[in-house]
Amino acid sequence: MTLPPSSSRPRIFFILSISAFVIFLTNLTVITGTDYRGGIEILPIPQSLKRPGQRNKAPQLTIHEDKDDFSYSSEKADGHPISQLMEKAAADFKQYQDSRSKTFVQAIGKYRKKYGRHPPPGFDKAGLLYNRSEERNVYNVDDFDQIWDDLRPFWSIPPLELRKVVKGMLKEDPGNSVTGGNWRTDEFVKMLNVFVKELPDMQIAMNRLDQPRVIVEWEKLQEHLEIEEKSRNMDRPVTNGFSRNRELGGADESMSFPTAGWFSVPGIPYMDLASKACPPDSYARNNMTMDPAVAEAKYKFPNSGGLVSNFNISSDLCTVGPAIQDLHGMLFAPATIVATKELVPVFGECKVNVNNDILFPANMYYSDDPRYTYSPENDVPWDDKHTTVFWRGITSGGNQKLSTWRRLHRHRFVQLANGTDLHNTKTRLTLPTLDSTATPPAYIETKNWDPSPFSEKYTDIGFPELAWCVPDSKCGWLRTFLKEVNATTTLTDQFLNKYLPDIDGHSFSGRWHAWLKSRSLGIKATIFREWHDSRLFAWQHFAPMDNRFDDFYSIITYFIGLGNREEEEGVYIPTHDSTGKRLAGQGREWAAKVLRKEDIEVYMFRLMLEYARLLDDRREMIGYGGNGRRVKEEKLWVWPE
Ligand SMILES: *[C@@H]1O[C@H](CO)[C@@H](O)[C@H](O)[C@H]1NC(C)=O
Ligand SMILES: *[C@@H]1O[C@H](CO)[C@@H](O)[C@H](O)[C@H]1NC(C)=O
Ligand SMILES: *[C@@H]1O[C@H](CO)[C@@H](O)[C@H](O)[C@H]1NC(C)=O
Ligand SMILES: *[C@@H]1O[C@H](CO)[C@@H](O)[C@H](O)[C@H]1NC(C)=O
Ligand SMILES: *[C@@H]1O[C@H](CO)[C@@H](O)[C@H](O)[C@H]1NC(C)=O
Repeated sequence: MTLPPSSSRPRIFFILSISAFVIFLTNLTVITGTDYRGGIEILPIPQSLKRPGQRNKAPQLTIHEDKDDFSYSSEKADGHPISQLMEKAAADFKQYQDSRSKTFVQAIGKYRKKYGRHPPPGFDKAGLLYNRSEERNVYNVDDFDQIWDDLRPFWSIPPLELRKVVKGMLKEDPGNSVTGGNWRTDEFVKMLNVFVKELPDMQIAMNRLDQPRVIVEWEKLQEHLEIEEKSRNMDRPVTNGFSRNRELGGADESMSFPTAGWFSVPGIPYMDLASKACPPDSYARNNMTMDPAVAEAKYKFPNSGGLVSNFNISSDLCTVGPAIQDLHGMLFAPATIVATKELVPVFGECKVNVNNDILFPANMYYSDDPRYTYSPENDVPWDDKHTTVFWRGITSGGNQKLSTWRRLHRHRFVQLANGTDLHNTKTRLTLPTLDSTATPPAYIETKNWDPSPFSEKYTDIGFPELAWCVPDSKCGWLRTFLKEVNATTTLTDQFLNKYLPDIDGHSFSGRWHAWLKSRSLGIKATIFREWHDSRLFAWQHFAPMDNRFDDFYSIITYFIGLGNREEEEGVYIPTHDSTGKRLAGQGREWAAKVLRKEDIEVYMFRLMLEYARLLDDRREMIGYGGNGRRVKEEKLWVWPE
């Protein structure tokens, strides 16, 4: 298929294929900016947090007083691991905000310093999207490292070659081509439409499977990254515009194009693939062996009942892969895996840390689908919500068979909250010692707590429908172990509850933005990475949860409180309801600033500018070379303090 000649009306073609989904943008001019977090690197060990004993002045002990809720001011006196984690998160978040560019000039300077290149052509037009007088009020103007990290390795591949690879992905599955008519492309195009005039003709391959696609071996990726680094240059003058000619170098339909090297491996352990994309000294590369205590120390707070202190590492498969390889459906029983070890540009909504897919904001976050979109209806004030941990979901996440269902993440989560099933189960929990001489109180971890009565009282978690089992899609056999629970709940009904866990399905969970925007507190466990990760801070905007869920009860007993000091000697945790309310409020306020449609549009705009530059034969000679001073009203988009 040859690209149609330019016409005044932008034309967009969608091609769906099994392997990838290719979008042609024709007669457009591009604008983008992208980043890929070095997902394959071993993540740094979390900084050690201040231990209670190291405080200079011990605040007055309040824990054994007859006071049931800890207000914000008294919370620090508590010394609980969660209050320490929140304190650290607040400091990190403040630093993040303080380092934000306040003007376009600063944002441009930062771009060059970070990436060693000029911004892409059309970057000045990004100012249009930030324009406050159009009421866009874009707060986040320079946290786009994800785009850069995602696209960086592709600089090692010549532009013509890249264009051929994309074309090749399309040609590989011509039988499945359709034009338009898929909700994923429909939403994608809606996002592009905002700035599509600024883009040149190009083709985009979009993943339409739930699971990520691209997984390049570590050593090979390092070579790609090295080439990119050597190609950086800011001395050459650049032109602020894209080239017109984006043809395929004389190639026509009859010629052969590079193939992406797809292979289909449903059912193999995903870590078999993933570990090769990990650094040589990682656990995943060393026979998948690890000392659980050593691994925990990398991302969990000591003696805290398993609380996550580094959310980033909690989903770094090179580190935690050995521990969770048989506890997450995508890792051990994926319904579909079609992947490649070649570095090919495929756009996707989520990936795990070792994938090289190019992230874009998930369509669900942009659509107005009431199943995913936050609406304030029923989102009552915190104090009017039920003190309940509430979750509903479908039985997705992997192949449900008699031999696998107990290890699928959603099923494990439902079982973890099933009071009946839990009898005689013991779980870990962090508890203040009842030694009243310690100020603030010391915390000890028990591995011996029976969660069953607590769970019965405070959780409402289950599947409204059991479906898609193998064999028997109606799941007859599964009904011996699980039952369907009350299904009459809409997205917005869930906000009647204070605590809302968010658990992966086949891939990421599309409700996450709604949870963050609500007045309820989101409790998040995931192995997936998304476009927004760097702007969301665990323990500042939500409560993070380990993918093993071994910290679930430590989290919810902290907020809800446990036992009664007089009655249950040894098992007493005061409630931290107001801390939960504050955390939920912080997440809500922040989501309203940086997770709006406008923010998604800016991300897409920068992503598309960068991608268009990558595909441009003159990519070393084009870019935005100015300092931003002449961009009119450059200060317009500064967030009012
Ligand atoms: C901002 O928007 C207003 C109203 O649409 C427009 O007049 C102005 O030129 C825009 N500023 C920039 C920098 O684009
Ligand atoms: C671990 O892997 C290395 C290299 O692949 C191999 O030489 C060694 O025998 C393996 N060790 C075990 C215990 O499997
Ligand atoms: C809880 O577990 C019991 C015993 O295994 C089971 O009969 C029941 O159906 C489960 N409840 C739910 C909601 O799955
Ligand atoms: C199901 O949930 C709805 C909404 O929360 C509630 O009104 C209804 O009473 C529940 N039904 C049952 C059988 O628990
Ligand atoms: C996660 O870790 C990567 C690699 O160290 C780092 O670049 C990134 O900033 C981290 N992300 C967050 C949200 O902390």
